[in-house]
Amino acid sequence: MFAVYAESFSTDDPLSGLVVGERPDPVAPDGWTTVTVKAASLNHHDLWSLRGVGLKEDALPMILGCDAAGLDEDGNEVVVHAVVSDPGWRGDETLDPRRSLLSERHQGTFADRVVVPRGNVVPKPASLSFEEAACLPTAWLTAYRMLFTQGGLKAGDTILVQGAGGGVATALIALGRAAGLRVLATSRDEGKRAKALELGAHEVYESGARLPVKVDAVMETVGRATWSHSVRSLRPGGRIVISGTTSGPRLDDAELTRIFFLQLSVIGSTMGTRDELASLVTMLDATGLRPVIDRVVPMTEAREGFAAMAAGEVFGKVVLTR
Ligand SMILES: NC(=O)c1ccc[n+]([C@@H]2O[C@H](COP(=O)([O-])OP(=O)(O)OC[C@H]3O[C@@H](n4cnc5c(N)ncnc54)[C@H](OP(=O)(O)O)[C@@H]3O)[C@@H](O)[C@H]2O)c1
Repeated sequence: MFAVYAESFSTDDPLSGLVVGERPDPVAPDGWTTVTVKAASLNHHDLWSLRGVGLKEDALPMILGCDAAGLDEDGNEVVVHAVVSDPGWRGDETLDPRRSLLSERHQGTFADRVVVPRGNVVPKPASLSFEEAACLPTAWLTAYRMLFTQGGLKAGDTILVQGAGGGVATALIALGRAAGLRVLATSRDEGKRAKALELGAHEVYESGARLPVKVDAVMETVGRATWSHSVRSLRPGGRIVISGTTSGPRLDDAELTRIFFLQLSVIGSTMGTRDELASLVTMLDATGLRPVIDRVVPMTEAREGFAAMAAGEVFGKVVLTR
């Protein structure tokens, strides 16, 4: 079948290991189902995979892609949940130490077909297109959990979203606004700041700019480049919810003194549960809110989407269609 996969790793030139070609048809083990992919979306995770982060050499070649929407074996429209937990695991699957994301241990979604555990499909409402639904399982689910589960945020709270243009960041802005939060956002790019305002941010600032108010919580996915600013932007007792480190994980100054003196909390967040994905789908169906899509390209043109993401030239999600 047609597939977009990683053949090798390169830290400096991740696209050198990307192949747009053919892979064997997947075989669904017992308890698993085959989903015919209609649309999939790109995540920074796919670039990390091509750099050899989170993916082992002996797993190559590996079909990339965590997110998909398509048809199950009975022709029902479904959204694929990307977190695969151990069959014996009960409870929150993001806490399963043996969990993996599609494209880490099991083949990913950038293909004609993907096999997933039967429990890993969520019905897709007719109100969402396949392209829109394909944006939800990673970036939007991560944003949902950061705000409402790990962040414990409620209407009227003020948040700062760092790096406004990213897939997770645009989801944070849109979901936060829809949930009644006051949303401040930063971006390095003037054009992205303007788009963030259109998307629902109340105020936008250059990365690192001093804010006129201290916020209740910061949503971090950028890491090294914004960490110090995130800590300095919080009110006493505030919290940083972090789910990514796009600019790198190492810090010159972790601002530890400020963290203890102002009694700040640092809370990690990873993906979300199947139930949270179902709630997110319901929220979009009920509110009319839709994912921000930077571009839709045929899966055969996947390299173009990867290149745009690697260059930081996207605002929202890159969707690949079959
Ligand atoms: N833990 C999880 O479950 C989970 C789930 C999804 C994503 N993630 C992680 O979250 C991060 C974001 O993912 P994504 O798919 O949203 O990526 P993305 O679409 O590529 O967005 C990354 C954003 O980070 C900002 N950025 C990058 N380098 C920067 C720098 N040097 N200084 C300031 N801002 C910078 C950019 O914002 P501006 O250009 O607007 O400044 C960019 O738009 C990734 O590291 C990913 O691995 C984790």
